[in-house]
Parts: sequence; C-alpha cells; structure tokens
Amino acid sequence: MSKITAAITAVGGYVPDDKLTNLDLEKLVDTSDEWITSRTGIKERRILKVPGKATSDMAVFAVNELLQKRGIGADEIDLLICATITPDLIFPATANIICDKIGAKNAWSYDIAAACSGFLYALETGSKFIESGKHKKVVICGFDKMSAIIDYTDRNTCIIFGDGGGAVLLEPNYEGLGIIDSILKSDGSGREFLYQKAGGSLKPPTHETIDAREHYVYQEGKTVFKFATTNMADVSTQIMKRNNLTAEDVDWLLAHQANMRIINYTAEMMGLPTEKVPMNIQRYGNTTSGTLPLLFWDFEKQFKKGDDIVLATFGGGFTWGSIYLKWAI
Ligand code: COA
Repeated sequence: MSKITAAITAVGGYVPDDKLTNLDLEKLVDTSDEWITSRTGIKERRILKVPGKATSDMAVFAVNELLQKRGIGADEIDLLICATITPDLIFPATANIICDKIGAKNAWSYDIAAACSGFLYALETGSKFIESGKHKKVVICGFDKMSAIIDYTDRNTCIIFGDGGGAVLLEPNYEGLGIIDSILKSDGSGREFLYQKAGGSLKPPTHETIDAREHYVYQEGKTVFKFATTNMADVSTQIMKRNNLTAEDVDWLLAHQANMRIINYTAEMMGLPTEKVPMNIQRYGNTTSGTLPLLFWDFEKQFKKGDDIVLATFGGGFTWGSIYLKWAI
C-alpha cells in the first residue's frame, strides 16, 4: 500500500460580528489609524462581546461548518485538538468542551498551547495520528479570544490582537497530497518578551497581580519583531530548500498574521510575489492560534488540488515553524 499522508479535506471558520476599528482605538489609547496601519497593516479586529461566550463557542461554529461541508457526523471524529492560549477554563481542556458541545462522543481531545504557533504545532501533532494509520478523522482547531487577556489601556498590545479562528479536518490520503514536510522550533529563553505574567503556578492570582495588571498580555514589541522576522524567514526558506522548491513552485505562502511587515519580509526572502501571499490581517488583526486556519477559510476557493502551500509562523515562547503541504480538495 502507498504511504499515508494527512490531508486537509474540509475547512471551517468563525469570527465574531463586533468590530473594533483603528478609529475606536484612537478613543481608547494615544494612537492613530495612520500609525497602526503603517506599522502593522491592521485596520480592524473582531471582538467576542456576547456575555458567557468563550473560545469553545467560536470553535463550535467552525467545526460544525466543516462537518457539514464534508457531509459527516460529529460522532465520526476520532480525535480533536484545540490550539489556544485563551482556554474557556484553566482545566479541563477547551477541546473536551468543544467535543461535548458538538456531540463528538467517540473522540478523545486535548489542547495545545504554543501561542501564535499553536495551530501549526497542533497540525503537526494531529497529522501523525493519520500517518500512523491510528485515526481516520482528526479535527484541528485554532481559536483564541484574545480580548479576554488584552489590556485596552496598553497601546503596545491592544492594537494588535483580535478574536476568532478556524478548524480543519485531516484525513488519510494515498496520492501524495497533504502534509509533506515540517520544521517546528521552540526557545523558552524568549518567554520574557511576550507573556502573561500572572495567573499560572509561578504567580497565582492575587489582588496585587490584578492591581498590577499582570493578567494581560505583556509584549516587548521590538524584540518580538526582530526574532519573528529572522526566524519565520529562516524556517520558510529552509523548508523550500530541503524540498527542492523554487519560488515558481510555491503557489501560496500562508503566514501567521501578526504584522504585515514580518509577512512581507518572509515573502521577500522566499522570492515570492505578493499575489502568492494572501492576507486578512487588515480585517482580523492577530488572532494568535486562529490566523492560519482563518487564512484557509478565507482563501480556500482560490486553491487548486495539488497546489504547493508553505505555512509559516512565529509566536510567544518563542515558538516558530513551517509546514509544506499539497492542497487536496
Ligand atoms: N500608537 C502610536 N505610537 C505607538 C504605539 C501605538 N499603538 N505603540 C507604540 N508606539 C510608539 C512607541 O512608544 C515608540 O515611541 P518612542 O520612539 O517615542 O519611544 C514608537 O511608537 C515606536 O515604537 P516601536 O515599538 O519601535 O514600534 P514598532 O515599529 O516596533 O511597532 C509593533 C510596534 C508592536 C507593531 C511591532 O514591534 C510588532 O509588530 N512586533 C511584533 C508583534 C507580534 O508579532 N506579536 C505577536 C507574536 S508574533
């Protein structure tokens, strides 16, 4: 029998209705539409404002959409992995909650927390259960409700992040389509540049941690920018080289939507023209685990079966990586 590869066979996505525009942010912090647009490419983000709704509620929309597109029931899912750093609860896993809400009663499920690289890490992990022959249907979700951990008085971070995400179904492929190669990296010494200072076992919540606003995202933007640019370009060019891909061969670069300038630099290093680099950062901002599946969701109609796609990401940890896949739908 030919080698089993893990192919994406359906895509779903979800963003909340409420928009937070650059003009709205001008009223909250000392910033401007011009500054945000020129430094990041972001014009607006979506915010989940419905009381009592969390990350799992957004994911439920996306998973139900992909099940419907593929014409299968939730009970056919073997495994569901949710990449998130804004779980509904510290425990149990948001993936467990999603499975309960959609009725995936035959699935086992767990979360992966790798900040902006979460979806790529989860895609890599899930693909191994397909390649090994252990499972036939694995759902990978990437969702974050970043508004839950963003300080809307901090102009360094509040302009960047938004809520939303997407989900993909992985199934076995015997024609050589699907995930071909991957490079995943992490370096925990970068943790002090992008993190949530309190709320974990190192610094459990107290009145003092709340007063010091330590439950929000803290970021040293310049340092993160420097590492993101170098490392995302590095793994993306590496994956091209070791798979003998020229810039002509690569049909699409789907890059984590953190900053338009980081994405443009990676594309330039890969030798790709802008037409091959779809972006939706202007509409959603950085949805952390959500950006890559949201790109699949928004642009899948433009992809053709057999297209060569390079995924690239960088995020808190630091974590980063690249995956090369052949589109299978
Ligand atoms: N509006 C207006 N001015 C702002 C601002 C805002 N929202 N945020 C910062 N500034 C100011 C700074 O205070 C600084 O002023 P100073 O020179 O008087 O000190 C100036 O603008 C430049 O700040 P700097 O941090 O150098 O800007 P930058 O060009 O690096 O852009 C980020 C800031 C955050 C957009 C950029 O660093 C970035 O995108 N970093 C990576 C973010 C990221 O990808 N994070 C997710 C994980 S991958």
